[in-house]
Amino acid sequence: MPSFSVETPQHCYSAVVERGVIGHLAQYIPSKAGKLFVVSTEDVWRHQGEALERGLAGVAYEVLHLPGGEEHKRLAPVEQVAEEMVRRGGDRSSLVVAFGGGIVGDMAGFLAAIFMRGISVLQVPTTLLAQVDASLGGKTGVNLVTGKNLIGSFHQPLAVLIDPAVLATLPEREYRSGLHEIVKAGIIREPDLFRFLADRTREVLARQPQAVDRIIADAVRMKCEVVSSDERDTDLRRILNFGHTFGHALEAETGYTRFLHGEAVAFGMRAAACLGQLTGRLSADDNGEILEMLRLYGPIPPLDGIPPANLLARLVHDKKTVQGKVHFVLPVRIGEVAVVSGIDEMLVLESIRSALS
Ligand code: GLY
Repeated sequence: MPSFSVETPQHCYSAVVERGVIGHLAQYIPSKAGKLFVVSTEDVWRHQGEALERGLAGVAYEVLHLPGGEEHKRLAPVEQVAEEMVRRGGDRSSLVVAFGGGIVGDMAGFLAAIFMRGISVLQVPTTLLAQVDASLGGKTGVNLVTGKNLIGSFHQPLAVLIDPAVLATLPEREYRSGLHEIVKAGIIREPDLFRFLADRTREVLARQPQAVDRIIADAVRMKCEVVSSDERDTDLRRILNFGHTFGHALEAETGYTRFLHGEAVAFGMRAAACLGQLTGRLSADDNGEILEMLRLYGPIPPLDGIPPANLLARLVHDKKTVQGKVHFVLPVRIGEVAVVSGIDEMLVLESIRSALS
């Protein structure tokens, strides 16, 4: 099974995609590491904890819980876990193992970034979305009421251990939410992956291992390449935000409770594809293919009762908005996107309306 490397100016680490890799977790713990804190949620620990316990057999560690759910991805729980780490003897040599989905990875990663000014973290993602996106590339943080991930830090992990076997028990809705991030990977940079997702939908949705392993490996490779070329999101990495600007607005507008992140991104990709066509960048045929792909891997929850103008207003709070200018990642063709600003607000509103309908 493949291993990909992320190479940033300060850090170089591996993203290992391997069935059963959680069972070998102990070998990724540096010999010099101090106290080991596994940070998870009660739910993840109940369902997946046994696999991790096997992987850490013979190693001393403590398990600390964060609350689950995007609405709890706030600063207060991070502070509480940090207090607990201090009480339990944590110090600057301590190591965090972030064990869970994207929310755990972001929060535990942020905790590691700020605990005693920074300690190491190993990312062990347990949802498809976290495996192909959130755990890779060192973005960590929590939400503010005004917007998603508005407090955070870049904190690259020691390694990312991706075990597709854990997906066997992932709820269907979570699985599809993760698939939307893989669809994103296809649209922005991986046309072969896009074709595979279109041609092999049945195997992918049935979680047939060969199909699952292939799409995960493609998406992880792509993300490692992009992050290696632009860690700080100032250039190429911005393409990974395809669907996220609109998606973040939707999540914030609905209080982070109505849509899973991947579902919000699916909405955002629909809006961005529409905007791509409205601004003359994307052909009607390619737009149709994108919409069909989103339909195949949907559905997302109903979008009723969401005022388009509210989403438009929220776009300016996104952290990709610079000096009031919203930057959109728009598809140009399957496998290529462009970062564009200065788009007429009426066209943006029209694309939001179309995606909501
Ligand atoms: N999820 C977008 C990024 O990692 O840059």
